[in-house]
Amino acid sequence: MSKETAVDHVTQNMETYNRIAEHYHVTATPGLRAWKEESMRRFAAFLPGAHVVVPGCGDGRDSRFLASLALQVTSFDLSDAMLRIARERDPSGTYLKLDFRDMANLRGPFDGIWASGCLYHLTKAEFVRCVTTCRSLLSKAGVLYVSMKEGQGERYEEILGPRYPGGAEARALLQGRRFYAYYERDELLKALDGFALLAEQRVEPAERGFELWLRKIGEAAAQSRQV
Ligand SMILES: C[S@@+](CC[C@H](N)C(=O)[O-])C[C@H]1O[C@@H](n2cnc3c(N)ncnc32)[C@H](O)[C@@H]1O
Repeated sequence: MSKETAVDHVTQNMETYNRIAEHYHVTATPGLRAWKEESMRRFAAFLPGAHVVVPGCGDGRDSRFLASLALQVTSFDLSDAMLRIARERDPSGTYLKLDFRDMANLRGPFDGIWASGCLYHLTKAEFVRCVTTCRSLLSKAGVLYVSMKEGQGERYEEILGPRYPGGAEARALLQGRRFYAYYERDELLKALDGFALLAEQRVEPAERGFELWLRKIGEAAAQSRQV
């Protein structure tokens, strides 16, 4: 990756998300919402307690659903336009402006982290550091959910793929340059050091990707897993 990419990818992604935020609702197709809501129920069933954080919350659709499951939800995003929509739709919710790379500034512990379709906007090196921060923010036996894109490498994309939720309307309205990191399954599991896999599945109504539900494991267990 070029030095310019390493410096500018978050700024570039924010330029795109701030511009498209008002149209982002077109991705909330009935099929994808039903799928994600089932995934959130599964997440809730694994939790050791009720405090959860939602990184990259976008327009807050998942935060609102998690709150409807009687969870205490703190959400954050770096896009002002996304946050404005999330706060308008859920005035009593907690929506903070924060970069994934500054998650250590959150006040934990949390029982769960629901990171849906967002941490692939970090470089692979940043993602490894973010996983370490997530682990430190979680309570004992806390749960991390991630959904990530399947593939190889990390790069900017300009064109949304044929399976992007919302179809032709989304491809027309949500154009823009975004940085993505793609993972093969084993590579992703290796980056999620300090966690044990609880469940996994491929996302069907979206672009190729994985959903993983993971539980924080203790230091001793994490070290013995590495030998
Ligand atoms: C593909 S959208 C997903 C939104 C939401 N999680 C969902 O599933 O509908 C990715 C979100 O991540 C946010 N994001 C991207 N980079 C970020 C960063 N470095 N820190 C915080 N949020 C970021 C974007 O603003 C956007 O709202």
